[in-house]
Amino acid sequence: MSKRILVTSALPYANGPIHLGHLAGAYLPADIFVRYHRLKGSDVIYICGSDEHGVPIMLRARKEGVSPQVVVDRYHELNKQSFADFGMSFDYYGRTSSPVHHETSQEFFRTLAEKDEFILKKEKQLYDPEAGIFLADRFVRGTCPVCGYDDAYGDQCEKCGSTLSPKELKNPRSAITNATPEYKETVHWYLPLSKYQSFLESWIASHSEWKPNVLGQIKSWFSAGLNDRAVTRDLPWGVEIPADIARKYGVESKGKVLYVWFDAPIGYISATKEWAAQKGDKDLWKTYWQDEDTRLIHFIGKDNIVFHCIIFPAMLKAHGHYVLPDNVPSNEFLNLEGNKLSTSRNYAVWLDDYLKKFQPDSLRYVLAGNMPESRDMDFSWKEFQARHNNELADILGNFINRTFTFAHKYFDGKVPAKHTLSDLDKELQKRLELAPETLGALIDRFQFKAYVRELMDIARFANKYFNDKEPWKTRQNEPESCATTIHLCLQTIRHLTVLAAPLIPFSTEKLRVMLQLDELPRWDALNTESLPEGAVLGQPEILFTKIEDADIEREIERLKQALTDSQSEQSQDAVEEIDIDTFAKTKLKVAEIIAAEKIKKSNKLLKLQVQIGNNQRQIVAGIAKQYAPEELIGKKVVVVANLKPAVLRGERSEGMVLAASAESRLSVLFVSDDIPSGSEVR
Ligand code: 2FM
Ligand code: ZN
Repeated sequence: MSKRILVTSALPYANGPIHLGHLAGAYLPADIFVRYHRLKGSDVIYICGSDEHGVPIMLRARKEGVSPQVVVDRYHELNKQSFADFGMSFDYYGRTSSPVHHETSQEFFRTLAEKDEFILKKEKQLYDPEAGIFLADRFVRGTCPVCGYDDAYGDQCEKCGSTLSPKELKNPRSAITNATPEYKETVHWYLPLSKYQSFLESWIASHSEWKPNVLGQIKSWFSAGLNDRAVTRDLPWGVEIPADIARKYGVESKGKVLYVWFDAPIGYISATKEWAAQKGDKDLWKTYWQDEDTRLIHFIGKDNIVFHCIIFPAMLKAHGHYVLPDNVPSNEFLNLEGNKLSTSRNYAVWLDDYLKKFQPDSLRYVLAGNMPESRDMDFSWKEFQARHNNELADILGNFINRTFTFAHKYFDGKVPAKHTLSDLDKELQKRLELAPETLGALIDRFQFKAYVRELMDIARFANKYFNDKEPWKTRQNEPESCATTIHLCLQTIRHLTVLAAPLIPFSTEKLRVMLQLDELPRWDALNTESLPEGAVLGQPEILFTKIEDADIEREIERLKQALTDSQSEQSQDAVEEIDIDTFAKTKLKVAEIIAAEKIKKSNKLLKLQVQIGNNQRQIVAGIAKQYAPEELIGKKVVVVANLKPAVLRGERSEGMVLAASAESRLSVLFVSDDIPSGSEVR
């Protein structure tokens, strides 16, 4: 008996509509996977819902002058509806503002606290004396120490992209009241992740079947070393920490909530509880979360990998009563017309907007065929139109339509008899026989692009088969051959109806009606049963009408406009001047390269050991394509000496080598030999 399967998709924040990037990353692949498993007869449930906490939601609410609840109510409903219209077949779509979720995540926190899994840390944090609340990083604004932009956030400067901490901002102010924040002591609960590192490492090591892009990211977290993570925040919006626990630690619980990334993944559990209650079997959730016979599969985008592969598993392990994920098939990002998607710049295709203009199946087909499975991919409207018109309409739709039309015209709208098979007939039959196994294995391995390709190949082959068999000719002289052709074409349509159902469910539902089937055949029954001779067919319906150039051009135009608008904002930004003090903050020094080597698995990065005066450091530089390691040894270069250390491909990098770059060309700035290493560059 195969294991039961619990599938989740990342809970989207309820502070904006769903866009194509979301769909391609975490939702469509999961839906295909789940629909396929339902057709296989697997015991599978699919859980999702709205992530309704976190600072961006509070900020949005403030901007609109409404409460956070108003914001999340709006987007929860909107997203739930557009997901349904897109065919997302969740068994349950929950929300993290629900009472069940609040209780469940508080209970989770309580269990960890009682097991002494947390450490408590006292620290000074920025506090708004006027509003009387602690300020999350996003609530502090001020002047960026790097570029001088005067409206940088406490955690990041949107202008220059620097990662900041609120302490670094010049002239910090509260984003809520504009008051100057003060430092005030506060207490937070931390999950000491380092305690779980060796457990996590061996657990991940037992999952060599995971996607390489996922394993790669996890390994670089491990090699950087896991740190303590604060799991509480001082905020007025979120799941309050349990008062009894706070009391036990002598901490005031009011205004202290669980960090959004602590409660959000627990949302999967709460939503499963609500699902079970709705089914009238309130303990049913436990078999999916606590019985070792479950395969838990999280579908996410790559920005969520650390939370689902390290932090949440550590939480589950610390709790002790839950299964750990069996796989986290994260996707990479989807770009749009060659540019990064950006919600703040309105450079995106919004699902609710899309659905007003086009059919869901076209997008499902094109996104799955172009899924960012192992690297970032691009969505273009022209390609969307081409694949809809040339593949869905001209190949699949045409094959179905001509078969049905022919059967109605010459066989009385019934499935004709099958007679002696020609070689070509046998070849078609063979293809159909192999398809369920082949396509199913691809979906099971999360190879959705290949599944789409194979599926369309069958339709392409069938369409050509129809041409080659020329039933319009054989009808007169070889009626048995003609009947066999149409018989096999109809069997092919039956196969395609099931094989394509995970991908284009709205169209295959129409096909089911056209074939007059009460329900879809099971995936595994495709080859053991068939359409009986003489079965009555329904009326054909056109499944895909062509998308016109004008429809596509309007969309392309809108995106171009969004780019122009944001570029003109940026170019106003670009002329901003900085003063000498700001520049002087960047410590540029002469460094001598004393060792250099390639980094395994990267064709771009070199690992350099450099001498800066008396100090030796390691710097990882993206210059491997232009320079061989040996030609760099002994050379002097300019480095940014006070850059925050970072980890690149698992290697620590303490600085940056300056180089001029233009498109793919790159030239390191070398310094003449008589300047000693450690000299300042000004
Ligand atoms: O990145 C996001 O959109 C998060 N809201 C995903 C949360 S996934 C889960 F943990 F709930
Ligand atoms: Zn900046």
